[in-house]
Amino acid sequence: LNAAELTLRCWACGRPSAFDPFTQRCPDCGEALELAAADPPPALEPPFGAGMPAVGSGEGLWRYRPAFPGCGARLVAERVFMGEGGTPLLHAQRLGRALGFESLWLKDETRNPTGSFKDRGTAAAVAALAGLGFTAVGTVSTGNMARSVAAYAARAGMEATVWVGAGTPAGKLAATAVHGARLQRFAAPYGEIYAASFEWSRRHGVPFVNSDSALRVEGQKTIAYEIAEQFGGEAPDWLLIPTSSGGNLSAIAKGFAEAVRWGWIDGACRLVAVQAEGCAPIARGWEAGSDEPAAVPEPETIAGAISNPTPPSGRRAIRWLRDTQGCAIAVPDDEIEAAQLRMAELTGRYVQPASAAGLAALSRLGADGTVAPGDTVVLLLTGAGGNAAPPSIDLPAPGSLAELE
Ligand SMILES: Cc1ncc(COP(=O)(O)O)c(C=O)c1O
Ligand SMILES: [Zn+2]
Repeated sequence: LNAAELTLRCWACGRPSAFDPFTQRCPDCGEALELAAADPPPALEPPFGAGMPAVGSGEGLWRYRPAFPGCGARLVAERVFMGEGGTPLLHAQRLGRALGFESLWLKDETRNPTGSFKDRGTAAAVAALAGLGFTAVGTVSTGNMARSVAAYAARAGMEATVWVGAGTPAGKLAATAVHGARLQRFAAPYGEIYAASFEWSRRHGVPFVNSDSALRVEGQKTIAYEIAEQFGGEAPDWLLIPTSSGGNLSAIAKGFAEAVRWGWIDGACRLVAVQAEGCAPIARGWEAGSDEPAAVPEPETIAGAISNPTPPSGRRAIRWLRDTQGCAIAVPDDEIEAAQLRMAELTGRYVQPASAAGLAALSRLGADGTVAPGDTVVLLLTGAGGNAAPPSIDLPAPGSLAELE
C-alpha cells in the first residue's frame, strides 16, 4: 500500500491534502479530514448484490473492499479479519407492535467481534496501517473503542497504545488490558486527551485511530451500505444513531451519500443523533439552531459510551442532520434504563445503555409525531450489554431445593 495513492479532504472547507496518518484535523479550519474515494469504486458496480456474495456471507465488511481507499489489500485484510461487519438486520415485530410502528428494525452491531460497531472502523484502520508498514496503533477511548483497538492490534501483531480518562471504570478496562495493550489513564477532560494524542502520536510514530479519524470512518460507513442492501437497494425512512463524538453518524452519512452518488439507492434516510440528557452537546446545539455543538460543563449519565462533552465531529454531525432532514434528541437516564430492559424483553437483544438510548428516543419521536406509525425505522444497536455495567435488577436470593413444590 502506498500512502501517495490516498487523498484527504477537509469535510468543512474542502481543503485537499496528501494522506498522513498523523494529521487528523484540517490545518486551515481545524475540522476533521476525510478520505476521498475512487468515484465510483471500480469493482462495485450497481445494483447492489450483482456479482457479490450476500450480506452475512462470512466476508463481513470486506465485501466492499473497493470502496475503502487504502484498505484494499486482501492479504492485509486477512491478517486483521475476525468477522467484523455483515451484521443482521432484525425485524423487531413485538417491539414494533408495543410502540405502534409497523416496520421497526434493529441493525445489530453488537454481533461484531468485540461487541460494538467500533470493530468496523478499527479493522479498516488497522488493515490500512499494517499495509503502510506500521507496527503500532493507538486510540483515545472510554470503553468500546479501547477494547476494539486492543483486540485488532493483537490480531494483526501490532502494539496498541490506549489512552483513557481517569473516570473510566477499572472493570471496563480489563477487556482491553487482556490483549496486552499499553493502557494509560489520564486525569484530564476527553477533549484535552484527544488533542494531546495528535502531538504524542507524531512524536512517537504511533498513528492514533480516534473515534472520528478518516480511516475509521471508511470502515464504519459500511453500516449504511449494508442497511441499504438489506432493504433491497433502498434506504429506510429513519435511522436512529446513539451519538458521542459524531464520528459514526458522519461515517454512516458518508456511506449513504456515496450509495446515492453511485446509483446504488435513490435517496438517503433521515438520520437521528441520539444523546443522553446528561451529556447532549449535539442535541442542545441542534435545538438552538446552531451549527456548533453546545458546551457541556459536567457530563453525568449512565450512558457512558455516548458521554463526550466536546464531540470532535459535532459540527460535521449537525451538518449531516441538516442534509438528511434528520434531527437530534436527548433522552433522560431513567428512560434509557427502561428502554434497555424493554429491548431485552421484547427483542431478545441485550444492549448497553448507550445503545438503548435509541429506543428511548424513538418512543419520544413517535409520541410527538415526528416519526409516523407507517415509517420504516431502524435502531442502530451500537454496543452489547456485556460491554457495560449491568442494569440494577433485583435478583433472587438462593433457595433450597427441598422447598420445591
Ligand atoms: C456503544 C456506543 N454507542 C455509540 C457510540 C457513539 O459513537 P461516536 O463516538 O462515533 O459518535 C459509542 C462510542 O463512542 C459507543 O461505544
Ligand atoms: Zn478545513
